[in-house]
Amino acid sequence: MDYTVMMPAAGSGTRMGAGHNKLFLELEGKSILAHTLAVFQQDPWCTGIILAVKDSERTKIKTIIQQEQLTKVCALPEGGTERQHSVKACLQASEAGGIVLVHDAARPFIKQNVIHELVINASRHGGAVAGVKAKDTMKYVTDGVIEETADRERLWVIQTPQAFRYEVLKEASQLAEQENFLGTDEAMLAEHAGFEVRIVESTYDNIKMTTPEDLAYGEYLLKKRLE
Ligand code: CTP
Ligand code: MG
Repeated sequence: MDYTVMMPAAGSGTRMGAGHNKLFLELEGKSILAHTLAVFQQDPWCTGIILAVKDSERTKIKTIIQQEQLTKVCALPEGGTERQHSVKACLQASEAGGIVLVHDAARPFIKQNVIHELVINASRHGGAVAGVKAKDTMKYVTDGVIEETADRERLWVIQTPQAFRYEVLKEASQLAEQENFLGTDEAMLAEHAGFEVRIVESTYDNIKMTTPEDLAYGEYLLKKRLE
């Protein structure tokens, strides 16, 4: 079952504190960006990769694409100031149709079986996102005072990929723009537009490389994969 992946890679990596886009940091001798792209390059269901980049990083990214023979990368639109704008740039760069996945370039550890489950669910239901059950107790806090304890049984921690039928993501994205609605993920835009979005259980190691501690864990995960 075919899909196209839209990958926002135009961030700054502020929390990583490397002084440049964290996606160029290397794990076991290869950039985080190259690791993430390789997962989709190797997935036979993936027919195209649309990567949102900063104009100033385009040349460097093209070199990585050539070196790693990432032949499925078919467009490099310019990203925006917010992640949501970068995803929108990907949508505008393609009339993909079919099933589209949005996946953070900063999550190199996504598993192929989870991707395939997402594609199947998005095709059946319209939208499906990767997530894991919350491990910790969660509480709503206002001004340092606990207001309420959330029901952990119903709480999921949401990751990417987030998969949609193309028309669902397009309509959700257009409505968000019209209404100036800024979401922290694509599911939020689809929920806002009234679409059903399913959860597909993913793995706890599908982390987003965000802060410096994540690098050591990332190295460990890659070594384990090669064992
Ligand atoms: N991203 C993007 N365009 C933006 C912001 C983020 O394409 N304007 C991308 C990042 O490159 C990353 C993904 O969205 O692949 C998830 O974002 P995040 O982990 O927050 O990365 P950064 O925004 O780069 O990091 P930070 O928030 O710490 O600055
Ligand atoms: Mg960010």
